[in-house]
Amino acid sequence: MTKPKIYVTRKISEKYLEPYFDDFDFTMWSKESIPVPRETLLAKVSEVDGMISMLSETIDKQLISHAKQLKIVSNLAVGFDNIDIPTMQKNNIVVTNTPDVLTETTADLTFALLLATARRLVEANEFIKNDEWEHWSPFLLAGADIFGQTIGIVGMGRIGQAVARRAKGFNMNILYHNRSRDMEAEREIGATYTSFDELIETADFIVSLVPLTDETKHLFDKGSFAKMKSSAIFINVSRGQVVDEKALYEALKNKTIQAAGLDVFAEEPIKSDHPLLELPNAVCLPHIGSASVQTREKMIELCLKNLHGYFYGAGPLTEVRL
Ligand code: GLV
Ligand code: GLV
Repeated sequence: MTKPKIYVTRKISEKYLEPYFDDFDFTMWSKESIPVPRETLLAKVSEVDGMISMLSETIDKQLISHAKQLKIVSNLAVGFDNIDIPTMQKNNIVVTNTPDVLTETTADLTFALLLATARRLVEANEFIKNDEWEHWSPFLLAGADIFGQTIGIVGMGRIGQAVARRAKGFNMNILYHNRSRDMEAEREIGATYTSFDELIETADFIVSLVPLTDETKHLFDKGSFAKMKSSAIFINVSRGQVVDEKALYEALKNKTIQAAGLDVFAEEPIKSDHPLLELPNAVCLPHIGSASVQTREKMIELCLKNLHGYFYGAGPLTEVRL
């Protein structure tokens, strides 16, 4: 059999691809930090049997209309809202993602963001580097406690559970809201299921881990922020569009809530003049939830294993099924 042709939409080290050189004929976009231009992608997709895609690529009807022999898209992310799944199903194109391997790393980042936001680490760092530290004083950069407080996790999947286990270590009271109840999480971690409204009204830390769908778009809107405590800290590590950013900006500006830690934005990269970036009580990160070297390597390896499984018999390991 001729080797399946695979297009990799971002430059990654050849050392990851090398073990598969006998099995696949790879071509790759040439830049590491710049996404492949749409026109190039549309041309490439017509020539290949499989793709490794990034969350920066929109895999939609237009793209698929250019595909002639595409059979599988191996997405380097656990989220797949960049892919039009019904269109893929209609065209018998398999989609895979990278769950599990990034769970703990993303939970670490979630907690880092929670700690940084509560204890105002970024402000404190800027303060000292700007040479503003003239005196120690009792309430200098005083923030909020984390231990013993209530965390509310919206979206209790694998990452939500890993965040909850960390919260348990901080002796936090753990609430969660999810489409379905998770009895195992309730037993093992001692998490308590609540309605969405009860969660946002009572939690000190509200952590968004819901995938972006039609139902979760702007789940956190003006009304939700109004229901939160004025001391609440909001953390988003899922997708920017689950939040109405204008409403969040107003809530932070007017101190309807205390602070926010954000790893994701409605538009990425966020523009440097975006109002959220002006706020001292918003800690903003460039979508680095799973970005440890070890985990990114595991994600790349899983993408490759999914392709190999698909083309060479065993089947993909982590196929997206709706
Ligand atoms: C990152 O956001 C991912 O979905 O893996
Ligand atoms: C703070 O540094 C203290 O000693 O309490």
